[in-house]
Formats: sequence, C-alpha cells, structure tokens
Amino acid sequence: MCGIVGYVGPKSTVDVLLGGLKRLEYRGYDSAGVSVIDTEGKLATRKRAGKLAILVEDIDNQPLGEAHIGIGHTRWATHGAPTDGNAHPHLGGDSKKLSLIHNGIIENFAELKSELLEAGVSFASETDTEVAAHLIAREFDKTGDLIESFRKVVRRLHGAFTILVMHQDVPDLVLAARRNAPLVIGLGEGENFLGSDVAAFVEHTKRAIAVGQDEIVILRQNDVAIENFDGESVTRDEFLIDWDASAASKGGWSSFMAKEIADQPQSVGDTMMGRLSSDGTVHLEELAALTQKLPKLDRIIMVACGTAAYAAEVGKYAIESWARVPVSVELSHEFRYRDPILTSSTLVVAVSQSGETMDTLMATRYAKESGAMVLTICNTQGATLAREADAVLYTHAGPEVAVASTKAFTAQIVSMYLLALHLAKARNTRALSDLQEIGKELLKLPAQIAKVLEQGKSVAELAKSFKDAKTVLFLGRHVGFPIAMEGALKLKELAYIHSEGFAAGELKHGPIALIEKGQPVIVVVPSPNDPDSLNAKVISNIQEVKARGAEVIAIAEEGDLEAAKYSAQVFYVPKAHQMLLPVLSVVPLQIFALELSAAKGLDVDQPRNLAKSVTVE
Ligand code: AGP
Repeated sequence: MCGIVGYVGPKSTVDVLLGGLKRLEYRGYDSAGVSVIDTEGKLATRKRAGKLAILVEDIDNQPLGEAHIGIGHTRWATHGAPTDGNAHPHLGGDSKKLSLIHNGIIENFAELKSELLEAGVSFASETDTEVAAHLIAREFDKTGDLIESFRKVVRRLHGAFTILVMHQDVPDLVLAARRNAPLVIGLGEGENFLGSDVAAFVEHTKRAIAVGQDEIVILRQNDVAIENFDGESVTRDEFLIDWDASAASKGGWSSFMAKEIADQPQSVGDTMMGRLSSDGTVHLEELAALTQKLPKLDRIIMVACGTAAYAAEVGKYAIESWARVPVSVELSHEFRYRDPILTSSTLVVAVSQSGETMDTLMATRYAKESGAMVLTICNTQGATLAREADAVLYTHAGPEVAVASTKAFTAQIVSMYLLALHLAKARNTRALSDLQEIGKELLKLPAQIAKVLEQGKSVAELAKSFKDAKTVLFLGRHVGFPIAMEGALKLKELAYIHSEGFAAGELKHGPIALIEKGQPVIVVVPSPNDPDSLNAKVISNIQEVKARGAEVIAIAEEGDLEAAKYSAQVFYVPKAHQMLLPVLSVVPLQIFALELSAAKGLDVDQPRNLAKSVTVE
C-alpha cells in the first residue's frame, strides 16, 4: 500500500518527487525516501522514518544535488518496522549503485534471501524488498544489461509488487514492473512520470496510461515503452485525468477529511450528473455491456471491504426492494475462501473507492474465473478493478485523500441507487413512474446534504463532550443498520474509541447487557413515515436503553418529535424517501468522528496503523 513516484525530465527532480509523495502520503506514512542520479552522475539517496515532513526537513537542511531523474517512496510497513533502515529506497549490489522502491509483498523473499546470503550478500534492512535490489544488481554486474536483468528478476518474484529501479551506470532510465499492485504512467512534454496513482503527477500532466498486469515500463525523458515480462511490446491506451490538482488540496480546510465531508453535496451531485435526468429517469450507458444479461440475473453478490461494504449493504436494500433480485454482500477477503456458488447469470459487484484493494481484486478475479459477470463501482479512473471488470460505474466523488472514507461512501450509495433503478427498469419490476419519483427524490440529495452540514457546529460541540468516552454504541435498523456500523467504524479509525454498530432489533438478544449509566448510544432513527413502522420500533429501543441509563443521541428525520422526547440530543435530517436517508444520516456521524478525533489531538487525515489503499491481502 505504499506510494511510489518516478520522474525523468528537466524539472528539479527532488521537488517533483517530494510533491508527488505529498499527494501519495495517504497510501502510507510511516517512512519516506528518495533517490536521484545527480547531474554529476552520482546516485544519492535520503530516507527517514516518520512522516514525509521529516524527510523534507532533512533534505531542506542538507539538499540533494541537482538531478533530472529519480524515484521516491512513502511506506506502509509490512516486513520490518518503520525505521530509517527499512525505509525505501533500498540499494543493491556491493557498489550500491542500484536503487529500488517497492509497493506490495514479495512472498518468496525468504527463499531468495537464503540464496543471496549463501552467496555472501549482506543485508542492510529487514525488508522483503531488499532481495530484489540485490538480485537485479548482481544480474546487471554480470551482463551490463539493466533491462534484461530487471526482466529476469521480476519473473522470479511471487506475490504483489510495483517496483521501480534506477542504476547509476544507466543514468537516463527508470524501470518499473507491476504485478497485483497499481502503476500509472504520466506523459509530459519532454518529461515522463510514474506513480501509484495519478495524484503523483497530476499537477504536471493530465495524460496518463494505466499499466497492465505483469508489465514492465521503460521510462526515459522522451520515450516510454511498455512490454510484458517476456520482453514483448505492449500497447496501452492513454486516458485524460478528469480532475484538477487543486481538487486534491485542502483548500483552506483544517483537514482533508473536513473538506471531503463538505464536498458531499457536490460529489453526490456529480455522481448523478448525466445519469439522472430532471424527470427522474436513469440512464446508465456504462452498463451497456451487461444489458442483455440484466433481466436474467439469478443473484447479485457485492464484494467490498470496510466502508465500501457498508455502502454495499445499503445498496442491497434498494436493489432487492426495487429490482427484486437477491443480493448478498460479502467481505471480499472471506468470499473466495468459502467456495461460493457462481453462475454465468450471477453479477458480482465490486465496490471500492481506490479500485486497488487487493482483497476485492482477488475476489473479483475469482468471480470472473468462475464465470460470473463483474461490475465495478469505483472512484479511481484506470484503477485495476475498473480495468478488469466487464463494466464500470465510476463514482465521481473526486480525489479522496483522507484515510477515512466519507464522500466516496455517499457517492457509492448513490451509485447503488442508480444501479437499483436501472435494474428495476431492465427487469420491469416497478412502474416507470414509481422509479422516476424515486429518481426525483435522489436529485434533492445534494441540497439536503448541504442542510445537514449546517448543523456541523452543534455536532462538533457534542463530539468534544465525548472526548473521554471509552466506548460508544450505534444502533440502526433497515438501511440505518449499515449506517450505524459505518458510524462505529469512523469512530474506531479516527478517535481510537471502541465502538460497535448493532441492528436495533438485535439489542434485546444480547447487546443491551452493555448498557449502564452514562453509556453513549447513537441511534439512527428510521423515517416516521415509513410504511413498516420501524420508526416506532426504534423509538421503543431508545426507551429501553434510556431506561437502563444510556445517554441517547438520535439522528432523526425532521418533525420526528418522539425521537426528541427520549433522547439527550437530536440531529435532524431533512425529510427524504426512507431508502435514501443513509446519505443524509451518515453526515452527522462523519462530523462526530472527525471532531472527536480533532478534540483528542489526533491526526484526522492519517490515523495510526492505517493506509488509504490496502493493496496487500
Ligand atoms: C474507510 O474509512 C476505511 N479506511 C476502509 O474501511 C476502506 O473503506 C476499505 O479499506 C476499502 O477501501 P476501498 O474502498 O478503496 O476498496
């Protein structure tokens, strides 16, 4: 899950690399490093444990020489603690003239390391990565052909890797290889870039190429070639990055997360744009490849992790209710190991902000191999999950930088609604006029989210008063249940507070034993207008926990006076179609977690032990 950047061109390479790493820091932030070949032809490397700022300060105090070629890395540790020594780049060979960075895990590193140790190689780190640096350097020492040495070694590596390599004796060249980890090329005028994603170079160029599985890139200042691991040339299409570098900057907000929460009226609107007309009719051209198959689906299986899985859970309610096709949601990492039943009439929907989550990628590959169709709902253009699917529905949330997902989550839910409406139309399960009514309700969401955001200050006040809470429980029912789980996840990852989300109906089957005096319980209350009177049932749950001493905070629909009667505090969201409420009720929970984290003095954007994009299994 580390971030990788490479550059060949006339600009100050150290600045390009550090700028790229700043934008990739969300991928990992426990150490960082760069290597450049300076204009005198010498390889220079600097790497430091800790956040990127520590490396930047180090380089400011002792600048690296002028250079026009280099590689940079920001790390999320897998093998070896986050120390200066384990930070990348790693140097290879006795002469230490080769520099290498790596994202992923080399699964056969132990075997390769034994081989190198036997040959008398000494290691400077505890990483799996260093074996690759030594192997390539040794091959190069034998043949003097860096490209062939690189090919030969990457063919020997098992597992997941994006690797970038430079050698002092071949000072015009950066080589890259990709297997099961992301790699994108940025094409400039008289300069070229490599990155884990386009954020690495979007401030310099909008032209990009997504590198395919088991491919090698040979990058020079005025030339880019792609080939497979056997050295056969490969052609890949260019694409244009559709967001601006400024979209990935804080723009005056205290954190990326604060900005991304506030972006939601826009990101939800953008996700619907061009797909939902003003009369509420949905058009999903992107699903054309699946058109013939949709009416005959036997089931849908959604595969996702973390927040994306909660978005999928909301989608399940909408799809089953509107399109009458059975849906199950599976955590990607559990899915393929339980021998699931898949047919050519099964649609597997992969939901992922990054489009690079390894667990989800492996689940979809398994699904494809088993004959199922795969649709990806993803926020990142050119991501692996998008490229490997039969069809892609992009969420247009824009770049999400904070590790905790917010605007991608609401955009994913909205994409699920669009998918559900599209399926219902294709399967003829609901009158078109009903579907259009729901479509029109969807169009109101951006303005409704903006209204919820107006309560930000009161939510922040409340959050501060929970600074010393040891545990917080969340309850929800129907589509409010996944929102309760998402609220709990946000609090865990941001404020390091133990929290659990329960289905409100489950309370009496066990969790109610947790309630004691003063226990905070946040309840996502269904609409009082829901036809199944779930609202009344949840209000009873509120009374039950209150009677046992809980301090209840309710997220309820405007006008729900019963919710107010039994709660210490209520945050109201505008009246909406009951299925669409999650997009509104999650917003106060996002703000609550953000503000509680900030009140505890924690790093809101980069919580401990996490990384934005989890590209290891
Ligand atoms: C969200 O706040 C999390 N950090 C995490 O659960 C995330 O949603 C999960 O890792 C899936 O990521 P993806 O959407 O990029 O696949």
